[in-house]
Amino acid sequence: MGNGIRCVALFLLVGFAARVVFAVTDGLLPNGDFEQGLDKSKLNGTRVMDPHAIPHWEISGFVEFIESGQHVDGMMLPVPKGERALRLGNDATIKQKLSVTRHTYYSISFGAARTCAQAEKLSLSAPPDSGVLPIQTVYTSSGWDTYSWAFRAKHTSVWFSIHNIGHEEDPACGPVIDHIAIKVLRPPHHTKDSMLRNGNFEDGPYIFPNTPYGVLVPPVLEDVHSPLPGWMIMADTKVVKYIDAAHHAVPKGNYAVELVAGLECAMLQEVHTVPGRSYRLSFSVGDGATGCDGRLVVDAYAGREVMKVQYESRGTGGHKRAQLEFVAIANVTRVVFHSSNHHMKHDGTLCGPVIDDISLVPVHAQAHAARRLR
Ligand SMILES: *[C@@H]1O[C@H](CO)[C@@H](O)[C@H](O)[C@H]1NC(C)=O
Ligand SMILES: *[C@@H]1O[C@H](CO)[C@@H](O)[C@H](O)[C@H]1NC(C)=O
Repeated sequence: MGNGIRCVALFLLVGFAARVVFAVTDGLLPNGDFEQGLDKSKLNGTRVMDPHAIPHWEISGFVEFIESGQHVDGMMLPVPKGERALRLGNDATIKQKLSVTRHTYYSISFGAARTCAQAEKLSLSAPPDSGVLPIQTVYTSSGWDTYSWAFRAKHTSVWFSIHNIGHEEDPACGPVIDHIAIKVLRPPHHTKDSMLRNGNFEDGPYIFPNTPYGVLVPPVLEDVHSPLPGWMIMADTKVVKYIDAAHHAVPKGNYAVELVAGLECAMLQEVHTVPGRSYRLSFSVGDGATGCDGRLVVDAYAGREVMKVQYESRGTGGHKRAQLEFVAIANVTRVVFHSSNHHMKHDGTLCGPVIDDISLVPVHAQAHAARRLR
């Protein structure tokens, strides 16, 4: 009998261990920070010569292995002290095979810093999904920005890749990347309190526990493949910033969005509405307590209504509530937010108003009741 139990226990253990080994879990990808190093015989200078030199990754094109403090072509690359990173030059690709759960949405977060190229763009792919991320704007004073991207797993394994599609005269010119992480996203869903999905931003991309800068969400035109489920980001090259309560003042819950790109980036969601009916959009506007001071203004749009919400920020945290009532003019109403202005902190980091706790409810029932009472 003892043997039988031991057998079952062993079976369970093996099953459990196998799951742990094979499925990606939220957090850094295997060797996602390139800290496992590589055999120096596979380098010519900083260039990686063997496609399998970097543990867990496969590379092609002009890829360099950079350690902190290293000068390349007379340029000091911004790799933080004691860390290692990769520079993706012309046509460089790094890829890793991930074990995933079919039909599940995943977000990827990764750090990138510009070097010498001007209009740097990275292509991310997890077939059949792919996307291009413009990374030419530097948002954070350190020079490192964390970007996010999302995909939906079609099969149980997928080759995830990051590819530099830029072509520079100097083949080495390209972004430095580091810290690549993954997180399962819940598909956008409604709650009974609001017609909006993920209006409190509690679902979103992975934020590294030790980064105080949040994660940038680049332009995404489909809400199903958004790293910020339910929301689309409409911009040419700019982003919104997803922030956490661990490092910011957040109006409600654990996460919020900071509108860091003025009029150049709008965040929006489409909702089904009944033409002629009234709705109320409510939301909080504040500041993240990161020193973004001055008069912050959020513009909100719904139906034919526009509202400007002003918030005087001392950069120390706080928020106010705003409400916009509107009559739907179509079956689908776009709820849109952006910051009226550009703002910058004293250290050069781009910043802006924080928005959170957004809800949309019909008001026709109350309106009828009020009329009856009158
Ligand atoms: C290393 O790179 C230099 C400069 O590009 C080149 O001249 C040399 O042939 C390379 N060495 C090897 C072993 O590939
Ligand atoms: C709204 O949807 C209905 C049914 O799907 C359709 O007949 C109607 O034309 C739509 N109205 C507008 C304004 O789009």
